[in-house]
Amino acid sequence: MREPGLPIDFSDRSSIEAWLCEGDPIRLEELWIAADEMRREHVGDAVHLRGLVEISNHCVRQCLYCGIRAGHRELVRYRLTMSEVLECAHEAVRRGYGTLVVQAGEDPGWTRDSVCDLIRRVKSETGLAVTLSLGERDDDEILAWKNAGADRYLLRFETSDRALFARIHPGRVHVAGDRVQRLRELRRMGFEIGGGVMVGIPGQSYASLADDVMTFRELDLDMIGVGPFLAHPATPMGRGEIASLPVGEQVPATKEMTCKVVALARLACPDANIPSTTALATLAPEQGRELGLARGANIVMPNLTPFRYRSLYEIYPAKSCISEDPVDFNAQLVARIRAIGREVGEGPGAAPAWRRR
Ligand code: 5AD
Repeated sequence: MREPGLPIDFSDRSSIEAWLCEGDPIRLEELWIAADEMRREHVGDAVHLRGLVEISNHCVRQCLYCGIRAGHRELVRYRLTMSEVLECAHEAVRRGYGTLVVQAGEDPGWTRDSVCDLIRRVKSETGLAVTLSLGERDDDEILAWKNAGADRYLLRFETSDRALFARIHPGRVHVAGDRVQRLRELRRMGFEIGGGVMVGIPGQSYASLADDVMTFRELDLDMIGVGPFLAHPATPMGRGEIASLPVGEQVPATKEMTCKVVALARLACPDANIPSTTALATLAPEQGRELGLARGANIVMPNLTPFRYRSLYEIYPAKSCISEDPVDFNAQLVARIRAIGREVGEGPGAAPAWRRR
């Protein structure tokens, strides 16, 4: 009989690093199975669906990898109206989702008060849980949003390597300080908190990616989003202007490496909510969301952004949701979830990590 779990010491970086470097398919199969078992034991077979609405592609930041960075001058910018966002919230309810994820670039056009108004209206008209993913905003804004009723905040820290973080996020250093610290503050403000990383950022080493997994655990994250870096040709990083590490030291932006991080995240943080991300589905179109769901993930975030704006929220090219038919996608998704022996979750679907705390 195989011992349950896997020998990983999450306080030892080299132990995590060894798994990130593992190439033996038999050992990797053990990793996938251990993650899947941990997922079933701690968060069960329910796959919670979150309706994602991208409320604006305006952004003041210059992140070197991101297709909606301020420097991308040719991009047509949009900002949803209040009634467009509310229509998305009602669509989430019609589809039976329990949560609305409100995401945008860092857009001062969505002000403290307009976001407060939005949260209150979504809450009073639909009762959905509200997750914000609006970047690094000021304390007074974020506190006001909490008071208006927002439940959760997503802010990926992208990498825990501070030098690498600084290199790929040029321009202003935010008053709030680094994102890992910001996540601690968001927790103190009362949010259920979500962090995460991109896998395969040029310059990302295995050691730093192992540190990222340790950081998930240290922060005791409620939600962990992990996707591969996807090159966008209209960005400096997509044009290859950022040096990679030598072969063998550079983390590759592959399906397999992303799955390793998803699986390790599940083993490090058993009762967190972990999405099977759109970026992973974009890299693995045939395997789609199922791949992540089989290797530790328990969440999918279907896109509800009105179709005419969808291709403009192009943080990376060929996002899988752009081709997802808005009507059929939901039925297909539910069928695919059932086909892999899982069920669709009901209710707001807060992480057990959050309920434990
Ligand atoms: N490739 C992959 N992921 C990206 N993101 C932004 N740009 C890219 C890209 N080119 C991710 C970042 C961000 C999230 C909203 O999207 O991790 O936090």
